[in-house]
Amino acid sequence: MASTEPLLKVRGLNAYYGGSHIIQDAALRVEPGESVALLGRNGAGKSTLMKSLLDAGPRVTGEIMFDGVALAGVATDARTRHGLVLVPEDRRIYPNITVAENIALGRHAARPGAKVNSDEIYDLFPLLKPLLQRAGYQLSGGQQQLVAVARGLMGAPRLLLLDEPVEGLAPVVVDEIAHDIGRIRQTGELALLIAEQNLGFARRVTDRVVLIDSGRIVFDGGWDAFDADPQLKERYLAV
Ligand SMILES: Nc1ncnc2c1ncn2[C@@H]1O[C@H](COP(=O)(O)OP(=O)(O)OP(=O)(O)O)[C@@H](O)[C@H]1O
Ligand SMILES: [Mg+2]
Repeated sequence: MASTEPLLKVRGLNAYYGGSHIIQDAALRVEPGESVALLGRNGAGKSTLMKSLLDAGPRVTGEIMFDGVALAGVATDARTRHGLVLVPEDRRIYPNITVAENIALGRHAARPGAKVNSDEIYDLFPLLKPLLQRAGYQLSGGQQQLVAVARGLMGAPRLLLLDEPVEGLAPVVVDEIAHDIGRIRQTGELALLIAEQNLGFARRVTDRVVLIDSGRIVFDGGWDAFDADPQLKERYLAV
């Protein structure tokens, strides 16, 4: 793949739940290794857009190119094996198996031939190491989120979609997750798309902002450009 090609290129994306037209003509690009924030208030369409990329929920039309492949007609699990991995907002930690087993489940999503080393992934999350033999139900919300992200990484993603990874977490835990994401970003080519409402966190872990409102992308640009227009925050974010 030429390095000038975006990793993800979305054009004319529409998504529907039954008769409700949720995502409206969205366009989006993510470059290899880039980290992009997807901002928008409750109900703006962040989760629907992420699920649309995986064909995991809404009915979707439009063009999604990922790593040079058109995804129309490609099943959700095949998209994941191709390197498009979603950590959903509800985390989905299995309560009755251990943390290590929960994380290992992510390996099934890995593309054939991908090298995934659980020890390297544990190294990214120092807080998880002492918890590996605990059961899923014995974790706090922040610990569950770390497990969900670690499990996502076991799928050897090229683009990791994180849906509100710090929602409801205490500031000290948000801080830890920001550090962990920083370590993940240093490991190489992995690109991130992070749905968020926490502006401070999003700013720390991303390079660029995509703002969505009522299913439409209303801004796409760098943090400097975002900050230069304070109306964006007032109109489109509940801050
Ligand atoms: N399964 C569903 N069936 C029908 N409508 C849905 C479904 N999921 C979401 N919606 C609707 O789609 C719109 C976008 O919701 P979505 O969950 O994508 O928003 P969001 O930006 O992720 O919000 P939040 O920050 O609260 O997670 C909302 O109007 C919501 O009510
Ligand atoms: Mg959501």
